[in-house]
Amino acid sequence: MRDATRVVRSGLTKAATGRALHEGPVFVSTFHTLGEPDETKYSYGRSHQPTWTELERAIGEMEVDAGHEPAGVRVFGSGLAAVASVFSAVVRPGDTVVVQQGCYFGARQLLKEMFVPQGVTLRMEAAQDLVRVESLQQARLVWVETPANPGMEIADVRAVVTAAKQAGALVAVDNTTATPLGQRPLELGADFSVCSDSKAMNGHSDVLLGHVACKDEELLRKVDLVRTLGGAIAGPMEAWLLQRSLPTLPLRLERMSASALAVAEFLSGRPEVKNVLYPGLRTHADHSVAAEQMQHFGPVLGFTLRDQGAAEAFLRNAELVTDATSFGGTTTMAERRGRWGGDAVPEGFIRMSVGLEDVRDLIEDFGRALDGI
Ligand SMILES: Cc1ncc(COP(=O)(O)O)c(C=O)c1O
Repeated sequence: MRDATRVVRSGLTKAATGRALHEGPVFVSTFHTLGEPDETKYSYGRSHQPTWTELERAIGEMEVDAGHEPAGVRVFGSGLAAVASVFSAVVRPGDTVVVQQGCYFGARQLLKEMFVPQGVTLRMEAAQDLVRVESLQQARLVWVETPANPGMEIADVRAVVTAAKQAGALVAVDNTTATPLGQRPLELGADFSVCSDSKAMNGHSDVLLGHVACKDEELLRKVDLVRTLGGAIAGPMEAWLLQRSLPTLPLRLERMSASALAVAEFLSGRPEVKNVLYPGLRTHADHSVAAEQMQHFGPVLGFTLRDQGAAEAFLRNAELVTDATSFGGTTTMAERRGRWGGDAVPEGFIRMSVGLEDVRDLIEDFGRALDGI
């Protein structure tokens, strides 16, 4: 079966007369636990609970190609908790982590603030250098994000994995921008696929969640232990809301990706706009790698206007852009990324996430907004 079919079917309960098609969330902290503890049964809600199990099963299918054994998945209370669980599971004092230079600011900050002071060495490398074994020497873990956010750099996951295996390192891919329907890091050879489900996965800007997927049982066990002992767990309502959103992800992703490409093409033709960054554009430096490893190019693009004033004017003028620091939702969102510091972007750089509006309206609106800057 193809992705859309698999995703739609994955949340259904087993057919039985009188039973709900989709069970509601299970609100529980404590399960009946008689006699000796039985590890195959639920006992306490910080370890495992049925709403997570259903969600993890559905995501596990999305993370692999049709016909493959579902990946092991653990959901977390946020994307950053999922990121932190991978670092906590495999990185120890004395280890080296090689991180892709342009990856999400929060992941870099987490390593700098929490792991480096404990004796972890952090090395930053450009996406294209991660494919060289020499760049990965001594690494315990290579942290990749592709497409990276906000710079939209592409890392060639298969080539990074080949180099990392030679260097004896594990590979984790932050797959938030693409989602598992846009790209499957585990099928490309990565050890971990990590995702902030607060973005396109949930897609309605109302839930914070994240997940880690892996095929290796021992790595999954370590991630599971970090969740149970660290306690960064998902609420049942949030987990259920995410599961409810998954069947529309194929539609949303298809629409957002098609519209993002149309917007990127439109912006590329405007004299006020420089350097439109979208992996689906043939002008993107790594378009061919992206096309090879991605099924959808996703909702996020970047572009640069003359300066801070021009970027602010564009955001003020555009009526169909919600000013917000996130992406992957139903509404088109954008921000002048330089307002936060922390990312190596020009002052006039805008990160935009294209939503589900009619793209003709978006393009007309952006045209007017650019005319007015
Ligand atoms: C690429 C990427 N990874 C991880 C995160 C963290 O996710 P969350 O906000 O769900 O904690 C974000 C959030 O912006 C992100 O963009």
